[in-house]
Amino acid sequence: MTISPLTDRGRIAFLDLAAQRDEVAEEVERGFARVIRDTAFIGGAEVAAFEDEFGAYCEADHCVGVANGTDAIEAILRGLGIGPGDEVVLPANTFIATAGAVHRAGARPVLVDCDDEHLLIDPTLIGATLTDRTRAVIGVDLYGQRAAFDKIGAALGGADVAIIEDAAQSQGARRHGRTIGADVTAAATSFYPGKNLGAYGDAGAVLTRDAALAGRIRAIANHGGTAKYEHRLPGMNSRLDALQAVVLRAKLRHLDGWNAARRAAADRYDELLAGTRAVRRTRRANGNIHVWHLYVVRVADRDRVMAHLREGGVDTGIHYPAPIHLTPAYEWLGGRPGDFPVSEAASRSMISLPMHPHLTADDQARVVDLLAEATA
Ligand SMILES: Cc1ncc(COP(=O)(O)O)c(C=O)c1O
Repeated sequence: MTISPLTDRGRIAFLDLAAQRDEVAEEVERGFARVIRDTAFIGGAEVAAFEDEFGAYCEADHCVGVANGTDAIEAILRGLGIGPGDEVVLPANTFIATAGAVHRAGARPVLVDCDDEHLLIDPTLIGATLTDRTRAVIGVDLYGQRAAFDKIGAALGGADVAIIEDAAQSQGARRHGRTIGADVTAAATSFYPGKNLGAYGDAGAVLTRDAALAGRIRAIANHGGTAKYEHRLPGMNSRLDALQAVVLRAKLRHLDGWNAARRAAADRYDELLAGTRAVRRTRRANGNIHVWHLYVVRVADRDRVMAHLREGGVDTGIHYPAPIHLTPAYEWLGGRPGDFPVSEAASRSMISLPMHPHLTADDQARVVDLLAEATA
């Protein structure tokens, strides 16, 4: 079957933020008016209310709003006293920010390959990376499902090593019933606009059950103290803006519905692709409720397949085109091609298909028709 030309049918976007915007438009407008009336632009009632609401949603005792997800990871590391001379283990297959936050905290990123089914950090490989300098392991909930934190904990075998969750892509996800941040030292999340819970600019948060750690992170993110001109710790300027808190409060009420719509779309892709042998799907791990930030498949001759989709009017992405050790900024870590074979092979073959809560079944059918055509 040949797909009818693009001119007949319009493009299929990778992401549709306008539909989300329209659903919260009135509430956001009222909230912005409140903030502007009160000139409470940083911190204040909106930020405190969002921290309470998102903390409750994640069943976390403490939620600290910060300026972005990268800072959230760095603030956790610094709050744990991790810095120069320390090592932090993280997956080679992740967004650059996971490694960047470790480097900015002054510690050394130590990479681990991902498993071939879910493309998440492989817990069986963690043991071999541990040294007397290892202070933390970061599991990344890549594509919207939680890393295997129970298995990561078991791999640490009682060592005094913190477990940090990079939950930038997994707001609303659960593993064995436990939400992000529930069974780790602390979780960092990002509200970058394209995330499942996205702001209208940069924003992020830390979740933890550790009151003392939350207090240190709140201070670090605010120049080292919580009162004016109090600087107990060396800090940074990483606060959540009140206008972003307004957007996040409005969108949080829709998050479960939007995640359910993503799950339905993922189920539809799974069904449509079941007979397409040349397209390899990424699996849900047992016990996980996945929130499908991204729907990633692997194909041979990826660039040609992507070009075929583009010509047929479908926008796609790659998450991510190079693992950390083959990224120029981290060449100094000394990694070589072949060090992390699963991540490397995935980076050459993966495509992220359009995925968002407002994707229609018709559009998905067209995406899959084009994929089948390109891989036949
Ligand atoms: C896995 C992962 N970690 C960290 C980040 C960093 O978040 P931010 O862009 O808010 O700094 C992102 C998103 O951008 C991400 O996808």
